[in-house]
Amino acid sequence: MASLINSFKHVFISLLFLCAHDMLQVMAQWPKGGSTRFYDFKVQMLKVTKLCHTRNIVTINQMYPGPVVYAQEDDRLIIKLTNETPYNASIHWHGVRQILSCWSDGPSYITQCPVQSGQTFTYEFTLIKQKGTLFWHAHFSWLRATVYGALIIYPKKGVPYPFKYPYEEHTIILGEYWNKDLVQLERNVLASGGPAPVAEAYTINGHPGPNYNCSENDVYQINVVPGKTYMLRLIGALLHMECFFSIANHKLTIVEADGEYTKPLTTDHVMLGPGQTLNVLVTTDQKIGRYSMAMGPYMSGQNVTIQNITAIAYFQYLGASPHSVALPASLLPRFDDNLAVKTVMDGLKSLEVGNVPKEIDTNLFFTIGFNVNKCNSKTPKQNCQGSNGGVMAASMNNNSFIKPKISLLQAYYDHINGYFTEDFPGSPLKFYDFVNGPNSAPNDTGSTNGTRTKVIEYGSSVQLILQDTGTVTTENHPIHFHGYSFYVVGYGSGNYNPQTATFNLVDPPYMNTIGVPVGGWAAIRFVADNPGVWFMHCHLEVHMTWGLGVVLIVKNGQGPMETLPHPPADMPRC
Ligand code: C2O
Repeated sequence: MASLINSFKHVFISLLFLCAHDMLQVMAQWPKGGSTRFYDFKVQMLKVTKLCHTRNIVTINQMYPGPVVYAQEDDRLIIKLTNETPYNASIHWHGVRQILSCWSDGPSYITQCPVQSGQTFTYEFTLIKQKGTLFWHAHFSWLRATVYGALIIYPKKGVPYPFKYPYEEHTIILGEYWNKDLVQLERNVLASGGPAPVAEAYTINGHPGPNYNCSENDVYQINVVPGKTYMLRLIGALLHMECFFSIANHKLTIVEADGEYTKPLTTDHVMLGPGQTLNVLVTTDQKIGRYSMAMGPYMSGQNVTIQNITAIAYFQYLGASPHSVALPASLLPRFDDNLAVKTVMDGLKSLEVGNVPKEIDTNLFFTIGFNVNKCNSKTPKQNCQGSNGGVMAASMNNNSFIKPKISLLQAYYDHINGYFTEDFPGSPLKFYDFVNGPNSAPNDTGSTNGTRTKVIEYGSSVQLILQDTGTVTTENHPIHFHGYSFYVVGYGSGNYNPQTATFNLVDPPYMNTIGVPVGGWAAIRFVADNPGVWFMHCHLEVHMTWGLGVVLIVKNGQGPMETLPHPPADMPRC
């Protein structure tokens, strides 16, 4: 509570200090209607004891999970980030479309240099036509393991939800917890050439629940009254895993996905990959008691070591004994239940008929998957712990993305040569049986690497096929696109075949992260109407570290409303 009051205090203080000049600029440039909200984000260390282990974690304002950012549709957000830790930091506003505000998108080395220790940077953007549940997270190294929080955007005043108003709303953030320094962990994993170690625990709002070592009392709880409908805002702030979520004896009705309304879809369980958000309605229609809210792994890849212990929180009815044994969430699917994932995906439709591009002028085809690069180390035992004694990598169109040492957006904007190329192929150089094709050494499964980008003309109608490959293993990859939402018009298993693929051009879900089916494909469509330098990557953190990403550069169009403005004066330097 004290920290909450503190952050309010900071908000007022920053209000006072916001210089009038900025204010005028803001007002000149942006559509009227929304109000401006100020937040003060201090990157600070916090000492926590979890699982009988004490360590310092990186947080915002010493809160874990971090402070909730509340706003209303069309509001402008101004968030001042001050870095008081020894680490670099930057914050990404995941799912915010950042219309003409690419400079505030947040990924380190893509749209900005990270904010160094002792430095500040102010993010400014408008939530144009956006509402619903999104979230923010660190976008430097693996810091987002503890640096994340909800971004809740209410509809405009007087605009109701398209469903019965819930009695109460709660936010449920799914995470993963390590007893380790995450920046060091990333370095170690890269140096090892092998996979990432599993998390010590899964967490629900930062609490692992009673199933782990030394965690009996570290349990999150929601108190509910019988006979009401609750809305849960579920947020996948996971690092390297996708997870199932369910509540014992209760059905979940999905009404929103990635901040966009859906047709109501009732299910026993949902799956969230990192980067995905879902609003679900739950009715307290069971007998008085304590029920488990459970979260457990979804792993579609073969031979991947996973944390198999489920995180539990309590869904506690008023009148239930505080000591009652929680009814287990028996409905949590098995970790490899691909059908459970597909069934929910099959039912996910936009509430309204969407504005889906019908005529396509830019066809793209990106493969996504793993690679094993040759071991070049003199100490292979230390550095080549990937499959078959190689070095793990991941790629799009067989190129592993290398983060530059500067801000790519800055380099593009200032025409600085030498930091990136514009030769990312629009489709794979070789077509083969992607799903069942060469998948083990000594076949050539190596990738090229480079900071390759794909340039797109302003206003293009883009269709992009994302195709999973079977190199090393097929796996469901949650692909996230910065700066845009896209219509998921189709998906299927196996290799994409335009002759047999069926598309939904009427009411497909409008998302910012798509879990491309394991050993399958997904087709997405969007109009490239937001100029900037936009990261598209797998949101499983270690895959991104291995290079599963690409940068799409959308050129300026005509006139000021189609042109990226100048960078803010306080852009950090690398
Ligand atoms: Cu939520 Cu680039 O990430």
